[in-house]
Amino acid sequence: MQPRLTYGPRGLEGNAGTMASETIKITDNRTGNSKELAIKDGTVKAAELREFKTSADDFGLMSYDPGYLNTASCRSKITFIDGDKGILLYRGYPIDQLAERASYLECTYLVVKGELPSDGQLKAWTSEIAAHSAVPANIQKIISSFPADAHPCSMLVSVLGALSADYPESRQVLDVAVREEMALRLIGHMAPICASIYRHHTGQAPVEPDASLSYSGNFLRMMFGKPGEKYVPSKSLERALDVLLILHLDHEQNCSTSVLRNVASSQSDIFCCASAAMSALYGPLHGGANEEVLKMLREIGSIGNVPAFVDSVKAGKGRLMGFGHRVYKNYDPRAKVTKEMADAVFAETGKNPLIDIAIELERIALSDEYFIKRKLYPNVDFYSGLIYEALKIPAAYFTVMFALGRTGGWAAHYLEMMLDSEQKIARPRQIYDGAGRRDYSTVGQK
Ligand code: ACO
Repeated sequence: MQPRLTYGPRGLEGNAGTMASETIKITDNRTGNSKELAIKDGTVKAAELREFKTSADDFGLMSYDPGYLNTASCRSKITFIDGDKGILLYRGYPIDQLAERASYLECTYLVVKGELPSDGQLKAWTSEIAAHSAVPANIQKIISSFPADAHPCSMLVSVLGALSADYPESRQVLDVAVREEMALRLIGHMAPICASIYRHHTGQAPVEPDASLSYSGNFLRMMFGKPGEKYVPSKSLERALDVLLILHLDHEQNCSTSVLRNVASSQSDIFCCASAAMSALYGPLHGGANEEVLKMLREIGSIGNVPAFVDSVKAGKGRLMGFGHRVYKNYDPRAKVTKEMADAVFAETGKNPLIDIAIELERIALSDEYFIKRKLYPNVDFYSGLIYEALKIPAAYFTVMFALGRTGGWAAHYLEMMLDSEQKIARPRQIYDGAGRRDYSTVGQK
């Protein structure tokens, strides 16, 4: 049997089972009352803090955790991260091994189903996803109705929501078979929808998929091919894209996945949940960061300007985009893969001169006390934009590419969460800081 891994206070640990005696004793100095709370998997139940009250009608103690810095919101078997050690595992498999040897569709099967597929299972999975690789006609109409300067992420938010209207049966969220079918549709539709958004912006008709191509090869065809013509993708660029999608596939309870789970907790369908997740991913502090990295590198302009730029960041004038992470306090293992991959891609496409600025930025930042003290390292977005640019994908689409990869993870979390009997509708508490009760007076009569 595989060892179970937990993320406890000591980081990555094999878990031989929780000792029944594991407790924490808390004394409430307001009342002098002490209580023992059970510790399970390195956590205490926040609801048990409510037992600490100053009077019978006191609501009880709450935990205050803006941004969920220290709150586990669910149990999950999908992805494990040890941010201090820079470890990322999908269903137990290290990200570097998957990026080197697996395909994106193999990895989506892994995160969704829990195990690597057999040859036959992978073939069936590939054809099931391919069966959904055409954009439904009215979704195509919606895409065509957007203004030419609409941001592709805004379009994707809308289109993902519109899929819910296209597949009304997706609202049967308590039916496992329907949920699984809708998850497949979501994964299958994502590539043609993303490509179709790009074609709309570039004034080109959509290109039909070609079942003889790989998932990534097909995506490149739908982006850059011509309708009715054969498209032969470059093997190395096709592989680079597949690896980027694998790196973006899942990242446990990140902002967009947490949003997806929050929305799913009210039993919303997978398409509306994915639309909400996309809205979160769009933000520049999350999936929008790779677009921001390129803007930043262009603004810096030359290696000679790097020290002054780093000084301005340290002085609080903006952030070093593509640096820092809520969970990683070490080098993001995905950034290592993208940095190494950049050379192979540039060997074919020619070097992007911005890479030299990025490498110098990383060198200076990693030896600077400000970044060392705060444990700020390059994250996945620091180098991924440079590779997307080499693949001829415009910067405004980088977050769309991130979403394309992340869709498999969103589907896996949706399916996992809907089977989790411990989940309830997400409904945090607040500390009310506003006015006390006061009486209304009509405008002008104060
Ligand atoms: N550049 C400069 N300083 C930074 C950066 C950065 N990129 N990131 C964090 N810091 C500093 C903060 O100013 C803060 O300093 P202080 O203690 O003096 O106030 C300290 O480091 C801690 O920062 P927080 O904002 O508290 O860290 P948090 O975990 O909330 O933020 C985040 C994580 C949002 C990723 C942040 O590091 C950031 O904004 N990075 C740039 C945007 C980016 O690359 N996002 C992509 C993240 S990966 C992804 O979503 C795929």
